[in-house]
Amino acid sequence: MGMKGVVLAGGSAKRLGELTRITNKHLLPLADLPMIYYPLKALEQAGITEVCLITGKEHAEHFIALLGDGTVNDREGNQLFNLDITYRMQARPGGISEAISLAENFINKEKFVVFLGDNIIEGNIKDAVQNFSRQFNGARILLKEIENPNAYGVPVFNDSKEIVCIEEKPLSPKSNYAVIGIYLLDYRAFDFIRELTPSGRGELEVTDLLNIYIKESKVESDILEGWWRDAGQSPKELYEISQLIYQTGANKIHL
Ligand code: DAU
Repeated sequence: MGMKGVVLAGGSAKRLGELTRITNKHLLPLADLPMIYYPLKALEQAGITEVCLITGKEHAEHFIALLGDGTVNDREGNQLFNLDITYRMQARPGGISEAISLAENFINKEKFVVFLGDNIIEGNIKDAVQNFSRQFNGARILLKEIENPNAYGVPVFNDSKEIVCIEEKPLSPKSNYAVIGIYLLDYRAFDFIRELTPSGRGELEVTDLLNIYIKESKVESDILEGWWRDAGQSPKELYEISQLIYQTGANKIHL
């Protein structure tokens, strides 16, 4: 049995206005597919087939109608996914780390991969997953160099190019890297999350969790190849990502 995956598809999606009044952000279209298909396919391609999907109770039935138990066929009967999906409900959007904590008894004592449901990548995470399976313990993150990472988690490096901490949405980023929303964690994540307290925005932050890993053990990183987008930023962004997918054929890689 391989590594398990946790996909986060909750949150409030306030930035998407009317589009998310009656359904969940992760069910909106990107190119010709619902957003949630892309992270699920990236996990499946990396050999991760046991997935826990976490969402709020308002739209949980939409996900169940679309994905069921994880065996998904298109209208012509072609198989799109051959996954084993378990669901967990998050009562309110209390943060990424709070959402991760709901997967504790699904994960048990194994290493696992967390994928934020609005993070879309052109390539795949096969190398990162393979590197992590060889890593003794700790956490592994994926970085992408971008011009201004101030809307994201940003790693701070020392002179030996080691990550000394991560800052969440810093006004003046200390590096040109964004921490993308794919986190490879060992089971101690659940103990570390119990130590967290809510941030200024009232959430248990994933950045605070990663900073505990940096202090207590270690965080390794890989640079992600190909483009990366966070599809939660604005309605216009959904359109731009759709264009990017059509232009680069990224959905053909995924499906
Ligand atoms: O996209 C990468 C960034 O994601 C990281 O660089 C940041 O360090 C990290 O904090 C996060 O930033 P955002 O502010 O963009 O996170 P957002 O609130 O948009 O939530 C990200 C995903 O997690 C989204 O797909 C919804 C899901 N989520 C979020 C919260 C707060 C949940 O399932 N439950 C939650 O309570």
